[in-house]
Amino acid sequence: MRAMIIAGNWKMNKTNAEAVELARALIDVVGNREHPRVVICPPFTALSEVGKVLDGSRILLGAQNLYPAPSGAYTGEISPAMLLTTGVTYVILGHSERREYFAETDAIVNAKVKLALGSGLRPIVCVGEKLKEREAEQTERVVGGQIDGSLADLGPDEIAKAVIAYEPVWAIGTGKTATPEMAQEVHAFIRGRLMARFGGVADSVTIQYGGSMKPENAAGLLSQPDIDGGLIGGASLKADKFAKIVDSV
Ligand code: 13P
Repeated sequence: MRAMIIAGNWKMNKTNAEAVELARALIDVVGNREHPRVVICPPFTALSEVGKVLDGSRILLGAQNLYPAPSGAYTGEISPAMLLTTGVTYVILGHSERREYFAETDAIVNAKVKLALGSGLRPIVCVGEKLKEREAEQTERVVGGQIDGSLADLGPDEIAKAVIAYEPVWAIGTGKTATPEMAQEVHAFIRGRLMARFGGVADSVTIQYGGSMKPENAAGLLSQPDIDGGLIGGASLKADKFAKIVDSV
């Protein structure tokens, strides 16, 4: 059985006071859930305080990035060990916004994934095609390449600890969602690719969908056989909306 995981990616939103308030509100509505697994990913500055608020609840803490070195002269960057001290267990890597605005390549994402796994963090590895690529029927080539590159040199034991998030770039923050059928098609493709590379362990890997997921469309997406959760942006910033998505599992 693979884990169903609903994760909130707060992106560059919430001051510390706002983050604590949202975390407390989430504990009230979904703090005791065993199923699905709930993860929230505040900005770095709020991790420590939110981590303390979550202590004793079932909600897990995630980060949105890390730097692929244990320590050193990397001004402005954050190491896995720093994340671990705040209580982080998951880390989003290779988000399309990082790939787009910070020129993250598959090789960089791969280095981050390896260090995350080596440090005991569970990476949520993001992949997804742009609109132009979908229109040119390049979705499988692009997503397949991102899967291969971002997960290079890993073994089955490592992939078992990773989560994949399929986030079609054209659906992120646009209000446009992939239909459940469109998303399922790509999720099945991703699982097949993982199966070919890593064998039967692929069956136990959580593959989340992300891109304008909201209470109105969550149930349809989450009922697909290869969609094992969601990575939620906008709708994760409001406790009631996020709780409704969790409830629709
Ligand atoms: P939205 O839910 O705001 O479209 O964002 C999705 C996303 O990028 C999650 O990582």
